Amino acid sequence: MQTDNSQGHDRENHYCLKPRRLPLMKESPRLLFEMLRKLLRRRLFSYPTKYYFLLLVFSVVTFSVLRIHQKPEFVSVGHLELVGENPSSDINCTKVLQGDVDEIQKVKLEILTVKFRKRPRWTAYDYINMTNDCTSFIKRRKYIVEPLSKEEAEFPIAYSIVVHHKIEMLDRLLRAIYMPQNFYCIHVDRKSEDSFLAAVIGIASCFSNVFVASQLESVVYASWSRVQADLNCMQDLYRMSADWKYLINLCGMDFPIKTNLEIVRKLKSLMGENNLETERMPSNKKERWKKHYAVVNGKLTNTGTDKVHPPLETPLFSGSAYFVVSREYVEYVLENEKIQKFMEWAKDTYSPDEYLWATLQRIPEVPGSLSLSHKYDMSDMHAIARFVKWQYFEGDISKGAPYPPCSGVHVRSVCVFGAGDLNWMLRMHHLFANKFDTDIDLFAIQCLDEHLRHKALETLKH
Ligand SMILES: *[C@@H]1O[C@H](CO)[C@@H](O)[C@H](O)[C@H]1NC(C)=O
Ligand SMILES: *[C@@H]1O[C@H](CO)[C@@H](O)[C@H](O)[C@H]1NC(C)=O
Repeated sequence: MQTDNSQGHDRENHYCLKPRRLPLMKESPRLLFEMLRKLLRRRLFSYPTKYYFLLLVFSVVTFSVLRIHQKPEFVSVGHLELVGENPSSDINCTKVLQGDVDEIQKVKLEILTVKFRKRPRWTAYDYINMTNDCTSFIKRRKYIVEPLSKEEAEFPIAYSIVVHHKIEMLDRLLRAIYMPQNFYCIHVDRKSEDSFLAAVIGIASCFSNVFVASQLESVVYASWSRVQADLNCMQDLYRMSADWKYLINLCGMDFPIKTNLEIVRKLKSLMGENNLETERMPSNKKERWKKHYAVVNGKLTNTGTDKVHPPLETPLFSGSAYFVVSREYVEYVLENEKIQKFMEWAKDTYSPDEYLWATLQRIPEVPGSLSLSHKYDMSDMHAIARFVKWQYFEGDISKGAPYPPCSGVHVRSVCVFGAGDLNWMLRMHHLFANKFDTDIDLFAIQCLDEHLRHKALETLKH
């Protein structure tokens, strides 16, 4: 009996990151019972007013017990479905996801119309206002505030999210991955507008498991500061909780292509290994770390000065800024001296994010790392961390291209997805895809969001 209780308590703690009804439900019946006993002992039963009071107490107890044993409200109500959030347009997301050519054409025309372009949008000030009342914000924005399954509750995930603008995108991303058992650190660029930071703080204030990084960097494109931003969140998340199993880093233009349950199952199947792109270093990228770079007038510049060799026996590997890493990995990276030295060395190089994580993943002592042998090289398509369409690889998949052409637009050779990209993308094994932008194609996000939410709620019915 005793052990049963303590196990149950542990599990409840997972469910209970936000202080909710649970502590009350355990304590209040006992308190009320005590009160009742005292009242009875004092023979107050004979007084009619006290009698009515007792009756009231009984009803309250009965009512709360009934409510507690109900399933969470949203399970049956289905008001958490996102379908119809944009009633002003008549795009059919089911068709979009099926890859219906006519419907995708309709999206392309719709996003060009003046009416659509001039649609009212939420600003940072709107978020500051909305998050003054967290209960109404959470309800209005349809955040999920109870774990959807025991399996998910028992496998918390930590997220490091690096952003600098577009508050509505951040809200949509956070909502798409938000679960009360997970942990979310948001790093806001020190150069961001004050209103943006205030809005992020507002959103974070509505959730006990969402917070702004304790140390904010001014992020310069391709510089060490991008890595430092993630490291700051890593440190905060590591200190905040010992519960989470894996850490995933994101930026404001990422969006999940899997539900939380699917992500949990993928992470479990990694069995402690990290998962990220890590490949042979192409010779044209060596200039990036053979020379000393410095930030000049806010831009990272090659000074022409040679750098010493990296303080590692392991050669450098090439990859991306995005990783999926275990808690053991995070502990090691934050505390190991050799890695600290390597990081110190990397601080004046170009785009360290694109070799640092890839190289750490091949150091034999690092928990969850891969063999140094090139036979273990993992491409971005094999890694699950991120699905990205690079312009120069797009093409006819029947003729050997890794993915079909971008249906959105290209920014710095990377596809910003359009609605037409979803059908193919959803068959990929990746957890997240990059890049999405509500200003380029709102429906790509809208339809993906609706689909994932529906899928997540669907599993509750079985
Ligand atoms: C959207 O398209 C699907 C598939 O063609 C269809 O079954 C559904 O009824 C459509 N929904 C609406 C609201 O028109
Ligand atoms: C917040 O929004 C509400 C509803 O639109 C409005 O009535 C209120 O004046 C706003 N408050 C502030 C401080 O802007």
